[in-house]
Amino acid sequence: MRHLMNPLDFSVEELDRLFDLANDIESSPQKYAHACEGKKLATCFYEPSTRTRLSFEAAMLNLGGQVLGFSDAASSSASKGESVSDTIRIISCYADICAMRHPKEGAPMVAAGRSGIPVINAGDGGHQHPTQTLTDLLTIRSLKGRLGSFTVGLCGDLKFGRTVHSLINALIRYDDIRFIFISPPELKVPDYITDMLTEKGITYEEVIRLEDSMPKLDLLYMTRVQRERFFNEEDYVRLKDFYILDKAKLSAARKDMLILHPLPRVNEISVEVDDDPRAVYFKQAQYGVYVRMALILTLLGIEIKNK
Ligand code: NCD
Repeated sequence: MRHLMNPLDFSVEELDRLFDLANDIESSPQKYAHACEGKKLATCFYEPSTRTRLSFEAAMLNLGGQVLGFSDAASSSASKGESVSDTIRIISCYADICAMRHPKEGAPMVAAGRSGIPVINAGDGGHQHPTQTLTDLLTIRSLKGRLGSFTVGLCGDLKFGRTVHSLINALIRYDDIRFIFISPPELKVPDYITDMLTEKGITYEEVIRLEDSMPKLDLLYMTRVQRERFFNEEDYVRLKDFYILDKAKLSAARKDMLILHPLPRVNEISVEVDDDPRAVYFKQAQYGVYVRMALILTLLGIEIKNK
């Protein structure tokens, strides 16, 4: 039995197969419409979510399966003091696969240790968000035709943004990747990540201004300032509008740069940017459904013949 806790749980070759499958699902969805008939996905979400939970549910429904679960810790037995280990043992009796989001780093990993069914980490605190990374990689690979040779700008809350941590982890396995980390000093990427990059000899810069880096970027990954992870509201208010990507700033960017965002967006991308062909964040959300369909099939070991 296999779980997904971290994007590195899949080798580069396995990811290639997963993305090929996701692209096949995109072009022939009807071929997969009954693939999970009789199977159930449980979504155990102890933290708010729209995209991740609903895209998991849409993925399972598109495969002909069914879904059950909870979207809020207050409506689960966690509010009575049940541990995630006990909860997953129970869920294992009800469902065939589980996607779990939790505010505590490592909680889905603890659950996986006691689970009778595959567990997918759907975001654990400020730590990892592997299915968002699969979504990001599929988007980049589908629109650019490759996953190497990029200068990648990551902008916003690089300290608490789990999507950023997972994406960096995943991208460094491809050749010729350079990072520009764009953040206020208070929201810098954690030292454990920059230490790891230094150790691996991967080039990165840390800067404060978005404008200066814009012309160098092949990919710009914007992120929201993570209000729920701040210890005090004042710091959040001071930093929340530090970056606002608008048409004027974008005028310095390459014509073929992609703008990605895991969403939800707050103010960091002005809505006037949405119509720019480089803005692919809504397409990215659609790729998130295809890649989650491919992931469910892979973890359940379901193969569709005559691909
Ligand atoms: C992200 C998350 O939950 O970490 N959202 C998502 O899953 N698409 C990013 C965020 O909440 O800002």
